[in-house]
Amino acid sequence: MALYSEKVMDHFRNPRNVGVIEDANGIGEVGNAKCGDIMKMYLKIEDDVIQDVKFETFGCGSAIASSSMATELIKGKPVADAMKLTNKAVAEALDGLPDYKMHCSVLAEEAIQSALEDYQQRTGKRIENGGNA
Ligand code: FES
Repeated sequence: MALYSEKVMDHFRNPRNVGVIEDANGIGEVGNAKCGDIMKMYLKIEDDVIQDVKFETFGCGSAIASSSMATELIKGKPVADAMKLTNKAVAEALDGLPDYKMHCSVLAEEAIQSALEDYQQRTGKRIENGGNA
């Protein structure tokens, strides 16, 4: 039985949106102290929409696949949607990760949260949490 899904292998071998956005207006960097992996997310946000997103991940294959998938899931989406992206959604979009690799998808969620936090601090804007109020 294959340990990793086809999708994980695909995003690991051909990661989408790798790189740096020079004029990003939201940047987040997170790491996992146990494995030492680091993930950095760059967001270019205009009119409350994620126009562009890129990442740099110094980490395991699952972390690379998770960051790649996460960028695909939020690109072109409203910031409120990106705010709600969970690591579970990332792992599901990858057709699953082994239990002991779930923390790799947590890094992707945290990196995006951190970049959105940075965006809010820079702009003084608050991202409404998609509530219907
Ligand atoms: Fe730590 Fe994958 S082993 S992010």
